[in-house]
Amino acid sequence: MILAGGSGTRLHPLTRITNKHLLPIYDRPMISYAIEALVLAGITDVMVVTGGTHAGEFLRLLGNGHEHGIGRLSYSYQERPGGIAEALGLAERFVAEEPVLVMLGDNIVERTFRPTVERFDVQGLGARIVLTAEEDPLHLRHLGVPEFDDEGRIVRIVEKPEDPPSHYAVTGIYCYDPDVFRVIATLEPSGRGELEITDVNNYYVDQQTMAYDVLDGFWGDAGESIDAYYAVNDFVRENGANKG
Ligand code: DAU
Repeated sequence: MILAGGSGTRLHPLTRITNKHLLPIYDRPMISYAIEALVLAGITDVMVVTGGTHAGEFLRLLGNGHEHGIGRLSYSYQERPGGIAEALGLAERFVAEEPVLVMLGDNIVERTFRPTVERFDVQGLGARIVLTAEEDPLHLRHLGVPEFDDEGRIVRIVEKPEDPPSHYAVTGIYCYDPDVFRVIATLEPSGRGELEITDVNNYYVDQQTMAYDVLDGFWGDAGESIDAYYAVNDFVRENGANKG
């Protein structure tokens, strides 16, 4: 699943006239990188969830996906930006009883997360998330941050913490077993009126079925702010992305 809905308010006014995931990162629309990352990780059965007023442009860009290495490309439409977990919920019938990998369409990686997909195949049940090391507490305040116990197990994830409990961020790359849809059905909207992916992840943490990997290389959230958007652009222009 690639999630490309939301309102993109942090990139206003650019996102008043287009969908954030269609803005350029170096020489391609942002969402092309997520598509490429999934294909590189061995995933070729893909659903894109979009929303807002520019949904048709995704079809124009991606078509049936074959040109991009996707075997089967499906689309879904989120009526209002009700949160990442709500957007994921739209894929219930598409996913059926299979495991699912979710990637946020504004995330860009330097290196493939294929090892995570392979490990989740072996893991089978529960969830698996991808972390990235981040020293800057100011940056961590805009992200999900895990807290660890002495054995390095995640004991909880805090969304946008004032006081970050570790030097790792939760990236927008998540693997779930099909139970995830039952978990989403039990969620209550957060203070900002959204179904939060961090609540889904904390369910698996409480069940002690949450595993994680730490990503190699650069990770960026191009939707975080206009400065983050340009920092990701600069990185990709100089170093490329989605290396094997
Ligand atoms: O990028 C990593 C971060 O993503 C994590 O560290 C956080 O734990 C996680 O909550 C999320 O935080 P953001 O504040 O960056 O999420 P944002 O609202 O920007 O949404 C991220 C993507 O999800 C964006 O590319 C669009 C998509 N989305 C979002 C919402 C709210 C949807 O498709 N539908 C939605 O309703």
